Amino acid sequence: MKKLLLVIISLHLAFASLAKEGMWIPLLLEKYNIEEMQEMGFKLTAEDIYSINQASMKDAVMIFNGGCTAELISDQGLIITNHHCGYSAIQSHSTVENDYLTDGFWAMSKEEELANPNMSVTFLKYMEDVTDSVLKGVEETMAMKEREEIIAGNIKKINDQATKDTHYTATVKPFFHGNQYFLFVNEVFKDIRLVGAPPSAIGKFGGDTDNWMWPRHTGDFSVFRIYADENNEPTEFSAGNKPYKPAKHFPVSLKGIEEGDFTMVFGYPGSTYQYVPSFHLEMLTEKVYPGLIDIRTHKLNIMDKYMEQDRGVRIKYAAKNAGVSNSWKRWRGEIRGLDILDAQQKKKDYQADFQEWVAEDADREARYGNLLDEYEELYATLGDVRLGRDMLLEVIFRNGIEVTNVASMFRPLINIYEKEEEPKAEEIKKIKVNIKKDLANFFKDYHQPIDKEITADILSLYKENVNDEYLPAVYEKIARKYNGDFKAYADRLFKKTMFTDEASALNFLEDFSGRSVKKLKKDPAWELFENFIDVYSDQLYPLYQSFNQKTDSLNQIYMKAQMEFESDKVLYPDANFTLRVGYGKVKGYEPRDAVKYLYQTTIEGIMEKDNPDIYDYRVPERLKELYRTKNYGRYEEKGTVPVCFIATNHTTGGNSGSPVVNAEGHLIGVNFDRAWEGVMSDLMFNPEQCRNISLDIRYALFIIDKFAGAGYLLDEMTIIE
Ligand code: ARG
Ligand code: GLU
Repeated sequence: MKKLLLVIISLHLAFASLAKEGMWIPLLLEKYNIEEMQEMGFKLTAEDIYSINQASMKDAVMIFNGGCTAELISDQGLIITNHHCGYSAIQSHSTVENDYLTDGFWAMSKEEELANPNMSVTFLKYMEDVTDSVLKGVEETMAMKEREEIIAGNIKKINDQATKDTHYTATVKPFFHGNQYFLFVNEVFKDIRLVGAPPSAIGKFGGDTDNWMWPRHTGDFSVFRIYADENNEPTEFSAGNKPYKPAKHFPVSLKGIEEGDFTMVFGYPGSTYQYVPSFHLEMLTEKVYPGLIDIRTHKLNIMDKYMEQDRGVRIKYAAKNAGVSNSWKRWRGEIRGLDILDAQQKKKDYQADFQEWVAEDADREARYGNLLDEYEELYATLGDVRLGRDMLLEVIFRNGIEVTNVASMFRPLINIYEKEEEPKAEEIKKIKVNIKKDLANFFKDYHQPIDKEITADILSLYKENVNDEYLPAVYEKIARKYNGDFKAYADRLFKKTMFTDEASALNFLEDFSGRSVKKLKKDPAWELFENFIDVYSDQLYPLYQSFNQKTDSLNQIYMKAQMEFESDKVLYPDANFTLRVGYGKVKGYEPRDAVKYLYQTTIEGIMEKDNPDIYDYRVPERLKELYRTKNYGRYEEKGTVPVCFIATNHTTGGNSGSPVVNAEGHLIGVNFDRAWEGVMSDLMFNPEQCRNISLDIRYALFIIDKFAGAGYLLDEMTIIE
């Protein structure tokens, strides 16, 4: 009885805190969540969210372009996602003369929409628990390798079966670190056109200054349209395609929100690490993140310096800069958040309890008794490998030394000449056409002085941070020939290489023949790239892979053990870029002593931030005019226009662009960020501090209608007033 009472009280407390940690599986809502969701205010059923028998919300939610989420908002294939998710598409259509990033873009009819050759969206048709079929033939005592082979074979069979005679694609993904498997059968559309985007001064208002922060005033949305063939099925781009007619789209609510309202986020969270041991937190916060933060700080400082000086450079490096800055800032927040939570200690306490529980039972002791010791031993060396690998990737990829990327474009040519004495002219031609395209793409957004400065800086940082055994051969040369002077080395490199301007790279490409191989191999940019790649492929990659295998295997066992240890709780699986449901409430929070954040921002705050001297805070004249004249139309509330709001939904990267719906399932917002004090939620969730940030859908409609004059788009939406 006492126990029951305790359960009731703790359930009560859980509801009262209004925060619901977890990213839940749509197929299992009926079993685990719907009751609680309804208790929190949700008025619909689990079938309304995910069903294979009727049109449901899942038919209106999609993976957008491989890393974000988007949702349908009309019966004519119109979709909304974040501005930062459409960013590279918007940028790809932008030039100094036609600068859609700066000025925004709005198609005033379907004919004016812009095609995006490499873009796709992916809808989930259905999912299925296939654990038994995946693990068929697997024994607990098997070696990791054998286990993996059997699983891979089973998965292939399941996929083949699922897609037979359909145009669907299928993937099987592990959940709970390989203790459960689900099959996802998907439909991928490829003709996706840009319909509209606000200027960056709205869509990226606050820029990287405000990124990951509340209070926020970013109009982070862009609008696209899906096109299909005459049977309403996916097809490649063709001018004659028809707007896609979906089974379901989200009605858009103008009714607004109040603190305490139920909210649900439905999208594709990428990855979380809720069940890792304390050693993992220690590795990240004390070793890996500090190194990565350091190298990115240097990259950003250099980019910023040149971007300040020149508008052309600003456009070229806008997306690169945002990409580098985003994780850089989040890592800092994570370190802080975990520190304040005393997360390592919490994990250690948990591990002590766990160990005690294990010791209570001989069978457990046999299965789990050494687990934490094995982890500890593994992490003692994993940290250096992980840091080395991540830093190396920072140097030659991820907007590190860009000129090495140009050199590496020639890799396919070298490969073919090294394989065959007389390769077919046909094939050579094909490769050359591709490289030519890549070169054009690359040089469109390249500024050599930035690259040169970054090169000198990050070569030196790599050396400072990473174990000597992972130093590529070029360091020996820099020491010998340049007296260890990285700047002198970079000067020489950029003077000598053929790859810093498009003309000389093109020249080399046009005349490429068997004899060019030698010349290429002597190019210093190629040499640099190859030197790093050698260390990567001979040392860091295999090492990292073998560590990964070991951690994967321990993770699988530890997860299983934790599920037994906490068998009275329903655990949610770590995010793995599959469709998930998060639910919570609209709610402010207290970030610091004596400071209280409200749940909503308004256009007043945009005007407060307005500062023509600061790039991130320049408010467009047209928006100021709408503000002065209070020309708010039906988007007005209490004399102003709402812009963003926060809620307690558990989200992560990949959830960008996710629909945020109210108790009726109507769209009230578009998720785009998390608040600074809570970004450690990928590793540990704190209900007091973790908030997802959403764009209020009314602000998006206000911008489309009043600011851009594209109100015709609202005619195809289902608007709930
Ligand atoms: N922080 C958000 C997310 O993780 C927004 C990113 C947009 N990029 C930026 N650098 N502002 O994706
Ligand atoms: N901006 C993130 C994204 O691109 C969402 C923010 C988060 O990490 O929660 O998915």
